[in-house]
Amino acid sequence: SSNTELCHIRVRINVKSNVSEKAQHRKTPLNHHSTMEVPGELGWRFSGDKSLEIGRSPVNFVQSRIDKYNSKIFSARIMNQPHIFVTSNQGIKEILVDKSSSFEMSYKDFGYMYSLYGEVCIFNNGDEAFRLREIIRTLFHTENCNHYMIKIQRLTQQFLKDLDQSNSIEVYETFKKLTTAICLSVFLDIDDFELLEKYKSVATTHWHGLVSVPLSVKIKGWSSTFGKAMEAKEELLSLIKSQLQNKQDKGRFLEALQQAEFENIEEAASHVLLFVSALIPKALSSLLTSTVIETQGESKEQLRNLAWTDSRILNDILLEASRLYPPFYGGRRIAKENVNIDEYLIPEGHQVIYITRFGNRDEETFDNADQFLPERWQGVDINKRDLVWAFGGGKRVCVGTEFINRILKHVMSFLLSEYKWEIEGEVPPYKMLPVSRPKQTVQVKFTRNSINHDEV
Ligand code: HEM
Repeated sequence: SSNTELCHIRVRINVKSNVSEKAQHRKTPLNHHSTMEVPGELGWRFSGDKSLEIGRSPVNFVQSRIDKYNSKIFSARIMNQPHIFVTSNQGIKEILVDKSSSFEMSYKDFGYMYSLYGEVCIFNNGDEAFRLREIIRTLFHTENCNHYMIKIQRLTQQFLKDLDQSNSIEVYETFKKLTTAICLSVFLDIDDFELLEKYKSVATTHWHGLVSVPLSVKIKGWSSTFGKAMEAKEELLSLIKSQLQNKQDKGRFLEALQQAEFENIEEAASHVLLFVSALIPKALSSLLTSTVIETQGESKEQLRNLAWTDSRILNDILLEASRLYPPFYGGRRIAKENVNIDEYLIPEGHQVIYITRFGNRDEETFDNADQFLPERWQGVDINKRDLVWAFGGGKRVCVGTEFINRILKHVMSFLLSEYKWEIEGEVPPYKMLPVSRPKQTVQVKFTRNSINHDEV
């Protein structure tokens, strides 16, 4: 039957290994004397500040400077401090991996992030960061994740089972409902609707405190937004502590959290706040949205069928989506010492911003870097796969990566088994902040799959 045939089609989407060889043949870093000074204009304090410009159009801001200085590394003043922007894939690799010991995390200085999350892993360095990472890793051992996946399977079924019943679906919002429910259910055992809604509204207030400030110092009324966000933080923390202390029949995550070697309940609760804040549901929804958009329509039907029958192809699709559309635009560090990055000298004490979105689309590393070509990953080894920076890299790589991949794979497998899908209209342009996603809503029509994959 056509069903069985489908299983046996092994159309090799015919490509060369698209990860460019150039990446491997780069010159070794130049010695100190030939290191170049980073180009750029810092201007005066305040008047020279470009925070608003980067907040309004993050891609143009970076691209225009790359063009102007003919350099993928440049400096500019944002948040009233000189920052060095690193946008090449090679430069990001050196910061996160090869020369990571020359840098420290600098999110503590980033807007109000530290006030709003408290003493969590990302603000720490050295032994303290290592200690916290090890503790968090125990929460995501395969055994534990197997348990979390049971909840995720149930929620995916519940939230996505009737997508074909509507004319079309606003994908980002639909996925965000699912990913929010996943985070609250897995990390806090919140499953009942009322508590979920209450939690969501407090989490939103908390979130507004975070995003209103860092890149738009001049926004009116930020102080009251911040005040409300701090109140929301306290409310969230007390809710988290109450789930942890009082709840009977805790789910696997809260059990694991109690076993984990956090120093006290405050430390544990602050980390849970990080996991259940709006940041993670948004990032997950961002990736699901981009993946669905890139695999929509009749022209991608064969790719969807292949992804359903071969999980390696689904992996490649997800990797390619996270390369082109990393949810977070970039990250930051501070240089502990003078260090050469991609042939430029970064002086000790300088703030550095790496732009994931540009590094992931660097033509020197990936051929046809702006195109969605999951085929480029066929047979490509882990070293090259690791040049995608959506989850960071090196010793500070995202601790949730494996778990996230399991979630994404499960949700996409569910969609592939149940539906085919097609966008109504054009894909609108993307915005980058706070997470990358289409600027306007994207309506997608889901139709039940005529092929019943269960029988394959
Ligand atoms: C799609 C969702 C996610 C994305 C795109 C993402 C991305 C990232 C990135 C880029 C970093 C590195 C930041 C840097 O080096 O500057 C990071 C760090 C981190 N992520 Fe994720 N993340 C996601 C979900 C999660 C989840 C679900 C968890 C755990 C529940 C998690 C826990 C962490 C932690 C604890 C760190 C800090 C690691 C450290 O301080 O060394 N992330 N994440």
